[in-house]
Amino acid sequence: MALSRFVSAPTTDLILAPSTDADWAAMALLGGTAFGEIGHPDSLAAWRTLTSNDAALVVRDGDDVVGQCFYLNLSLTVPGGAVLPTAGISFVAVAPTHRRRGILRMMYTELHRRIADAALPIAGLTASEGGIYGRFGYGPATSKQLITVDRRFAQFHASVADPGGVRLVKPADHRDVFAEIYDRWRLQTPGGLQRPSALWDDLLADRESTRDGCSELFAFLHPDGYVLYRVHGNDPMTIRVWEFAAATTDARVALWRALLGMDLMEKVSIWTHPDDVLPQLLTNPRLVRVTNSTDDLWLRIMDIPAALEARSYQEDLDVVLEVVDGFRTPTRGGQAGADGGRFALQIRDGRARCTPTDALADITLDHDVLGSLYLGGYRAEGFATANRLRSNDSALIRRLSAAFADAVPAQLGYGF
Ligand SMILES: CC(C)(COP(=O)(O)OP(=O)(O)OC[C@H]1O[C@@H](n2cnc3c(N)ncnc32)[C@H](O)[C@@H]1OP(=O)(O)O)[C@@H](O)C(=O)NCCC(=O)NCCS
Repeated sequence: MALSRFVSAPTTDLILAPSTDADWAAMALLGGTAFGEIGHPDSLAAWRTLTSNDAALVVRDGDDVVGQCFYLNLSLTVPGGAVLPTAGISFVAVAPTHRRRGILRMMYTELHRRIADAALPIAGLTASEGGIYGRFGYGPATSKQLITVDRRFAQFHASVADPGGVRLVKPADHRDVFAEIYDRWRLQTPGGLQRPSALWDDLLADRESTRDGCSELFAFLHPDGYVLYRVHGNDPMTIRVWEFAAATTDARVALWRALLGMDLMEKVSIWTHPDDVLPQLLTNPRLVRVTNSTDDLWLRIMDIPAALEARSYQEDLDVVLEVVDGFRTPTRGGQAGADGGRFALQIRDGRARCTPTDALADITLDHDVLGSLYLGGYRAEGFATANRLRSNDSALIRRLSAAFADAVPAQLGYGF
């Protein structure tokens, strides 16, 4: 089915269309070429269970697929524990022979229309490069840092508990236990994502191609937490933590004690959120070195009233927000707020009412900034300094910041 009726193509020969089953081999090739690695067919099949041909778009030039993207049906935990259906955009690629002709812009225009039609209140992505997605209304909502600990010198403060309870287990034998613990963790963590069984299978298949030059997966299991890790290098050996999920403080401490107790290993490295407690546990916090950091989940709020009413807040607030969208979604009778607008936000006792209004705005902010504030991972003040969030009332900006903060640090459940 030719769908050039959806949007005008940047050059006349290009046709934008939903994918068909027959396109997926070409999509695997284009994705593999763009990202420099061909994924295992079983892995692509696992991710496909979260999408559909209607949620996947291709751009064809004659018989060739030269552009592609899809959205996954994800379930995202927001502050307070509500879980919102979320479009997780992924596998975005344009052939190097066709770049910078507007194909990405064309695909996002149509993708947003489909996401709005499906009444999904949030769209999210992880970005290959930081300069691409702000223009489409996405802002970084969680960030992560790589910390590396020289465990040979690490000592816990005498006051830190020693809860015990950690066992060494074979990962493939404990999938259901991991899934149950992960579920508890993600439901209490803004940015947590429900992980369907196909993705558990994919993770625990532990294929050679996913190991990044490291060993097979090892696991530590506590009744309320687990760690999946690999060993990297021979001399010295480093533990690279693949996944750390702890639903209780005891589990977190017990698992760190097990990791730092690995006598023959020199270092332990883990991608974690910026507020990780590890430095506070150790007598020498400087051993916890930040060796890399980056943004992680990016969000665009598609249904502003629904999204703002779903999360909880830390402070009462009355404010009129004007959300300015530089990339309007051509909705076909879609939901309110997909394109920004002006909203009265009233917060009482942690819950919000958010309604469209004609009243004058107290705070004006860019659409991507709202995405960054949403999970509590970024504060409003920095955006005010950049003039991306504007108000005559600086005290109101501080109150907005305090209201949107959350006690639980935001962390993306898994990359997609
Ligand atoms: C990134 C990629 C999808 C861009 O596709 P494209 O069709 O060349 O992009 P477009 O021509 O539609 O560009 C749309 C806008 O984004 C900008 N843009 C595109 N790629 C960009 C980049 N890498 N960095 C900054 N801006 C970029 C363009 O300048 C253009 O800006 P404007 O319309 O506001 O003037 C393509 O280069 C690609 O496949 N890269 C490799 C894979 C990848 O990184 N995928 C994204 C995964 S998150």
